[in-house]
Amino acid sequence: MRLGNRKVAIIGSGFVGSSVAYALALRDVAREIVLIDIDHEKSRGEARDIRHGIPALGTADLYAGDYKDCEDCDLIVITAGRGRLPGESRLDLTNENARIMHAVTDSIMRYYTTGVLMVVSNPCDVLTYKAAEWTGLPNGMVFGTGCVLDTSRLVRSMADYLNLSTGVINAYVVGEHGDGQVPIWSRATVAGIPLGEYCAAVGLPWDEDVRQHITDATRTMGADIIRAKGKTQYGIATCVCHLADAIINQRSTIAMVSSPMLGEHGVRDLALSVPSVVGTGGVRQRIRENWSAEEYHKFFAAAKRVRQYLHELG
Ligand SMILES: NC(=O)c1ccc[n+]([C@@H]2O[C@H](COP(=O)([O-])OP(=O)(O)OC[C@H]3O[C@@H](n4cnc5c(N)ncnc54)[C@H](O)[C@@H]3O)[C@@H](O)[C@H]2O)c1
Repeated sequence: MRLGNRKVAIIGSGFVGSSVAYALALRDVAREIVLIDIDHEKSRGEARDIRHGIPALGTADLYAGDYKDCEDCDLIVITAGRGRLPGESRLDLTNENARIMHAVTDSIMRYYTTGVLMVVSNPCDVLTYKAAEWTGLPNGMVFGTGCVLDTSRLVRSMADYLNLSTGVINAYVVGEHGDGQVPIWSRATVAGIPLGEYCAAVGLPWDEDVRQHITDATRTMGADIIRAKGKTQYGIATCVCHLADAIINQRSTIAMVSSPMLGEHGVRDLALSVPSVVGTGGVRQRIRENWSAEEYHKFFAAAKRVRQYLHELG
């Protein structure tokens, strides 16, 4: 794949979209960043606010634009759509955000020439699958952030429990970005050392209660933040920034993104998160690895949940 012009369009200039733009500008990941929203004034305000810090911190050209600016992008990040209200699940948003996603993908495709589409809007797995269907782009070029944020939260919780930096924790979450998320404990290590062995060596408990506590904390972290401040924005913005760097700066990585499955683990016709190679062209490959029987059971339950929501959406 060619190295493009490092141009990113962000659809939706709300809390998530503007935080993504800010993170990309701060980290100098993109050369050109365009903010697009049904509320153009909002995009204009956010773009000008972020631009005022760029002379000191980054070099990106950042501006408010319209769908015509989706031409020639290396990456289009979709954050348009309503967020969860306190007490709502991500799947409660399905119908409303699917309507918005359909309008957004139609508008993008009027001008689309190249680039990867990354879906952030919730419910992420359902909308990723529909966005791939509505755009008709090749498999892997449309994917969702899926369990990348959940993985980040799991790693954070484990680092806190083990009193280590996050860099040495190898652990991840697959399945649904939502209540059907599945931490893959059977593969988790600390710098390659199995967790049980590590905890025994340092005198920390590592039993089912500890694992369940970390699993529950990871799953409910988003809802806890929404209860406390009404939305989540910075964690996801950092995750998008990491993935954007892999895509536009050819720093291929492995991430728990959600993409339409083509029979991996026997699952097809829906999008879920599995370990995936992500680079310039989007998801290059989904890795089929072995999990424990219980983990497979939970992964299939997540597939069933997401399939049901897709079915209800029609
Ligand atoms: N995947 C994740 O891990 C994750 C994390 C946090 C939030 N989210 C999701 O991201 C989405 C955005 O959250 P937010 O807090 O930024 O919400 P927000 O309400 O602050 O922003 C949404 C923006 O979308 C715009 N919009 C609505 N319809 C549009 C359309 N047809 N075209 C263009 N823009 C349109 C709105 O004007 C608004 O500015 C929500 O669905 C939320 O659930 C996902």
